[in-house]
Amino acid sequence: MTLEEIMGLAPVIPVLIIEDAAAAAPLARALCAGGLTALEVTLRTPAATEAIRRIAGEVEEAVVGAGTVTSASARQAAADAGARFAVSPGLIEGEYAEGPIPLLPGVATASELMRGLDHGFSAFKLFPASVVGGVGLIRAFASPFPQAVFCPTGGIGPDNAPDYLAEPNVACVGGSWVAPKAAVAAGDWARIEALAREASRLPRARTRPLSL
Ligand code: 3PG
Repeated sequence: MTLEEIMGLAPVIPVLIIEDAAAAAPLARALCAGGLTALEVTLRTPAATEAIRRIAGEVEEAVVGAGTVTSASARQAAADAGARFAVSPGLIEGEYAEGPIPLLPGVATASELMRGLDHGFSAFKLFPASVVGGVGLIRAFASPFPQAVFCPTGGIGPDNAPDYLAEPNVACVGGSWVAPKAAVAAGDWARIEALAREASRLPRARTRPLSL
């Protein structure tokens, strides 16, 4: 799938920090049952790569990606584990839109956005969205950079997600709120499914297919 298609799957991409690979498949199933099928497993725990492998192998409806990808080698390793996309908190030097799997690079400023566009990217993670300018920055980028679409992430929850999703240059948002740490640790998949269902019903302004 292309990045455009992946970002179009649902209004929210869950950002997952998985401590125990055994939780990966049931967690992914709960999120998918709630309607969130594009999942970002952050490469922040020793279990992350195995978690990606299990979701890719066991949860057919999930489109699993790797998050916190900070190098070309991590992008390749994520692809080797079965990730279908990669998300980075920033721009990775020497990395381009073309690669083993699509990459959603992070930006926080106009200069970074310009560098990313130069490298062939058109979709960006705005990170950390709530700190670097929030909805106001998304709106300010719309006129000078009409070719860029965003997945704002960082500090987003059910209360402010609708404000971001109402912007036409926002394809989706990312967030960890749909998989609270305590619910994952307790195996409370029903709660996670309910949170995912609520998130999957958030309206978004950008309904037309993304042509990046
Ligand atoms: C992250 O990379 O940790 C994401 O930005 C998640 O942020 P959140 O926990 O504020 O949703």
